Amino acid sequence: MLIKPDVVYKAYNSIEKSNDAKVIYLTPQGKTLNQKKVEELAKAKQIILLCGHYEGIDQRVIDKINPEEISIGDYVLTGGEIPAMVLIDSVSRYVDRSFK
Ligand SMILES: C[S@@+](CC[C@H](N)C(=O)[O-])C[C@H]1O[C@@H](n2cnc3c(N)ncnc32)[C@H](O)[C@@H]1O
Repeated sequence: MLIKPDVVYKAYNSIEKSNDAKVIYLTPQGKTLNQKKVEELAKAKQIILLCGHYEGIDQRVIDKINPEEISIGDYVLTGGEIPAMVLIDSVSRYVDRSFK
């Protein structure tokens, strides 16, 4: 079972995006997350995370959104929620904590 493309696209379009938003699809086929990528992502103004479940997200909407594809390791989990938490935890350590 795949997540339907229209549902994902509608959710994606409902997000108010900054011009330089980073859009990431957590997928086992992606490039493995490493420290260099974590520090690069910490500089982003906005990060939008797409998480799959079941057999993943319908490829048609992935082609349309064209996100960067990131994996958290060479194994397959049931959903993208834990990979998203790993990414958020590792990146948030580098986000400037000073309040303005
Ligand atoms: C069972 S997997 C889908 C497997 C599907 N054949 C694929 O390659 O996308 C379900 C979802 O879990 C997430 N996921 C599983 N393993 C992952 C990994 N190692 N890194 C990042 N996300 C992962 C992805 O979001 C994926 O769409």
